[in-house]
Amino acid sequence: MRTLKPGDQTPQDTYKLLVGSVVPRPIAFVSSMDAEGVRNLAPFSFFTVASANPPIVCFCPMVRPPNDKGLASSKDTLRNVVATREFVLNIVSEDFAAQMNACSAELPPEVDEFEVSGLTPLASEVVRPPRVAESHIHMECRLAQVVHVSTEPLGGSLVLGEVLRFHIRESLLDNFRIDPDKLHAIGRMAGSTYARTTDRFELVRPK
Ligand SMILES: Cc1cc2nc3c(=O)[nH]c(=O)nc-3n(C[C@H](O)[C@H](O)[C@H](O)COP(=O)(O)O)c2cc1C
Repeated sequence: MRTLKPGDQTPQDTYKLLVGSVVPRPIAFVSSMDAEGVRNLAPFSFFTVASANPPIVCFCPMVRPPNDKGLASSKDTLRNVVATREFVLNIVSEDFAAQMNACSAELPPEVDEFEVSGLTPLASEVVRPPRVAESHIHMECRLAQVVHVSTEPLGGSLVLGEVLRFHIRESLLDNFRIDPDKLHAIGRMAGSTYARTTDRFELVRPK
């Protein structure tokens, strides 16, 4: 085994170890709005479920590496959810992976990624940010808590949101079970590589 000490390598190399090890990662496609109502849409693969009762999901916007002026900055999504305390988490399927990827470009806050990607905004029921119509599963969320883990470049914040509404395409749903063959969710590996959810096997949990 090779033993590596984070302090002896760059944060970029540590990032590579983390994203190559924690695979595949599901993708939270998060729509948010700033206080003026400008829409934002961005994918986050540092994403999981924290609780089912109440239903809490979480994702992690990282601190952007320094720009040419040497300034690190937070992502628009983090600024928006802190300011407005709401967001929608959309699940990503393979059929709109390219449009999801288009939303990961480092665009200025005034740019609306719905327009950039051509994805369709769909009004939410209880929060202001719209859902992504192309997505088969939407979760309308109210901010529960933000943990600012590190403000260093490539540091990050943990955003926890309570799901107020699930919207699930009827054809995927059978007695609260979601059909993975219809969902076609994708996951992120390192770099530009993605994984499908079609190669599966069964393992029954011991009693
Ligand atoms: C599939 C995918 C997953 C990503 N996951 C993350 C993530 O977990 N955390 C993060 O900070 N950036 C992640 N990014 C990069 C952000 O999407 C990108 O920085 C985006 O521009 C942020 O948008 P915003 O500034 O509008 O919030 C990911 C990009 C892609 C394509």
